[in-house]
Amino acid sequence: MSVRLLNESVIKIKYLTMDITWGDEKTMHFRTNIGLITTDGPYGPDVMACEWTHQVSYRPALISIHVNVKNATHENILASKVFGVNIASADQSVLSSVAGGNSGKTTDKIKALGELGFHFIQATQIPVLLVEGAAFVAECKLFDYRTVGDHTQFIGEVVAVTLQKEKEPLIYGAGKYWHQGENIPKPSVEEMERIKKIVATHKK
Ligand SMILES: Cc1cc2nc3c(=O)[nH]c(=O)nc-3n(C[C@H](O)[C@H](O)[C@H](O)COP(=O)(O)O)c2cc1C
Repeated sequence: MSVRLLNESVIKIKYLTMDITWGDEKTMHFRTNIGLITTDGPYGPDVMACEWTHQVSYRPALISIHVNVKNATHENILASKVFGVNIASADQSVLSSVAGGNSGKTTDKIKALGELGFHFIQATQIPVLLVEGAAFVAECKLFDYRTVGDHTQFIGEVVAVTLQKEKEPLIYGAGKYWHQGENIPKPSVEEMERIKKIVATHKK
């Protein structure tokens, strides 16, 4: 990177980058949802756990997932150009562990999970299965994809959504599953007024 100074001289800044590998303690304060990504393609119907799942646009509604190139899900999405994003609910930690601990390349997880008491239903708009009882479900068609570091970012455009308001989403962090914690109240009206006044004195 180069930085232009006011007197037009240029100094070169070299940043040293670093790796943060899976399970590194430095990520212990990250908290995510678990996206259960459902696909169909060369490896047949499949589901994988994907903590790197996030909505990244409102209009159109876009959801980004980040998938290792070695996963069956990766090939299934490239072939079918569609995928389901099922945000796991708090009672689906076992489903997440099975989906995240086995590959559709070698295991029929849909059948195994069926035997473990989990159910899948056909999506309405795309040819994939969806996870029954998930907190939020989006049917997505592939909008774009690119390599981002050591994963592929697949961006899905939402074509249908189901929300189960009574379901609590499963939280993932520090390699463990968690319940959603207590709500932290926003500042009171009086406190907000005080904050606004202070912020106003720092307007640029
Ligand atoms: C809780 C959890 C979260 C995970 N998050 C991701 C993720 O964000 N991206 C990814 O590529 N793999 C992630 N994995 C690993 C995949 O789910 C795992 O490699 C899986 O076997 C891939 O399945 P597939 O080969 O059937 O696609 C996660 C695993 C677990 C248990």
